[in-house]
Amino acid sequence: MIVYYNGQYIDKDEVRISPDDRGWLFADGIYEVVRVYNGWLFRMQAHVDRLNNSASEIGLRIPRDLDLTDISEKLLKRNDLSGDATVYIQVTRGVAARSHRFPDAGTVPTVYVLATEFKVNPHQFREGFAVLLVPDTRWARCNVKTINLLPNTLASEAAHQAGAQEAVFVRGKLISEGTHTSVIAIRDGVVITSPVDENILPSVTRAILMQLCQEQGIPVHAEGLTVQAFLQSDEAVLLGTTTELTPIHTIKLSDELGDLGEDTRFTTPGPITKLLQAGYRNLIQRECN
Ligand SMILES: Cc1ncc(COP(=O)(O)O)c(C=O)c1O
Repeated sequence: MIVYYNGQYIDKDEVRISPDDRGWLFADGIYEVVRVYNGWLFRMQAHVDRLNNSASEIGLRIPRDLDLTDISEKLLKRNDLSGDATVYIQVTRGVAARSHRFPDAGTVPTVYVLATEFKVNPHQFREGFAVLLVPDTRWARCNVKTINLLPNTLASEAAHQAGAQEAVFVRGKLISEGTHTSVIAIRDGVVITSPVDENILPSVTRAILMQLCQEQGIPVHAEGLTVQAFLQSDEAVLLGTTTELTPIHTIKLSDELGDLGEDTRFTTPGPITKLLQAGYRNLIQRECN
């Protein structure tokens, strides 16, 4: 498999990461995952924009001449990926002797890009996932897509142990998002979700969903989704680049959240979920053919 690593297209096994890389030492880096349909990058520019925003939020200077679209297209070609795939992009603050403060201004960021085949189980879009609600133990700048994913991996493992496919974070009384997904609920025909602020990632899929709702005349309430509203909703959906629009069939409750009652079950996919899934599919067909 050919990957991009610091200006070179090389076999993945030839990549040598320095033990002084700040990604390795401090998780001092950012990333993106882009979905590829029929060999076409889906909403690449939105991902590049978000990566640039993450970089500027943490004062990481991405080289101006780094053309991630060109690199991704080359990797798809070189690896014969003409169907469903994902592109993973990671940029760290580079290699420097270990010190908490930023390295010298001339330190070159480490850039790694990987394109791999992606297989999705189509049943998930009908049957849905179970989610486990857990306390949001992450930092206060979740709008940055940092490679520091320890709270996400811990929550994801807790969900797995509980027989769920995703964990959904709760901050105070509000649902923030999943470990790698955004979350919406639907009640009485209204889509309810959290506002885009520093508590969640500005999800590319969520932005598309907002547009679909507008086109289809579905009202959106994006001032916050309380745990109670989530548990009492008619439909609930996970959104994400690889998850697309996957309905939630069960909400399980972690003991850490105190007594919130019983698990909640949904019949999937609900009518509005179906409408939005169809809209999303149409969009992919239009843009990736
Ligand atoms: C924490 C988090 N929230 C939401 C999302 C969904 O974002 P997107 O729709 O851009 O994939 C992701 C994607 O990885 C994520 O990591």
